[in-house]
Amino acid sequence: MLPLRELTYQAPEPAPATYPHHLPALSGFQHLPFTQPVTFFIGDNGSGKSTLLESLAVKAGFHAQGGSHHANYPVANTDTHLADALRLIWNRKVSNGFFFRAESFFAYASYVDELAQDSAKALQPFGGVSLHHRSHGESFLALFQNRLDADRPALYLFDEPEAALSITGQLALLRIMHRWAKSGHVQVIVATHSPILLAFPKAAIWTFDTTPLSPTTYRESAPYQVTRAFLEDPERIFHELFSEDDE
Ligand SMILES: Nc1ncnc2c1ncn2[C@@H]1O[C@H](COP(=O)(O)OP(=O)(O)O)[C@@H](O)[C@H]1O
Ligand SMILES: [Mg+2]
Repeated sequence: MLPLRELTYQAPEPAPATYPHHLPALSGFQHLPFTQPVTFFIGDNGSGKSTLLESLAVKAGFHAQGGSHHANYPVANTDTHLADALRLIWNRKVSNGFFFRAESFFAYASYVDELAQDSAKALQPFGGVSLHHRSHGESFLALFQNRLDADRPALYLFDEPEAALSITGQLALLRIMHRWAKSGHVQVIVATHSPILLAFPKAAIWTFDTTPLSPTTYRESAPYQVTRAFLEDPERIFHELFSEDDE
């Protein structure tokens, strides 16, 4: 059974013309059912993926800057106003999970190091090595592989996990996601631009490029379409991109 069944959004009345309720993806948005173990949020930069994911994380009880329910380190500049307008409907509420944000992973790694000064056990889930002593991509994978297991029901939220991963690293993440999905009780929600991660079989994909945000398919998605067009004929794309500058 997947932990989370549905997310509902009710804008305040009258709808404010300011962040975050002014985002086009939220205009007319009412609810998002979770039907698959893996759900993706896609959309252009600034379309509101992180805004929704972060508020969802806070609603679910995670640390707003990333981490688990237990993580306890200072929060910088976190805006979670949207959380008041969101409601989570659970199949089974979980307290086990993780909110991963590429942009604040450094702070999380430092937090784990601090814990390790008191007890070396803190590094155990990371193979006994400080996350700072691995490359950025290696530390991401160390977290996904060791800390985030499929043994218990869990909710994993990721904001652009591909940020530091090589293509091979992304394939490794797909394999880890497959293990989670197969468990039947681990649910993953991922904001991504990666045409590789997005290919995960049977994933639900929601695009924030529409008003309101709406379901789409892998082959209709912008990351797939644009990457495909580019790889098929880079010269043509360059010609279009550079033509104005070269006139
Ligand atoms: N704390 C904030 N205050 C005001 N505007 C914000 C804040 N955070 C994000 N925004 C704006 O809201 C929009 C959506 O941001 P974000 O959710 O981070 O987009 P995405 O993750 O899809 O790239 C952006 O235009 C951004 O500038
Ligand atoms: Mg973002």
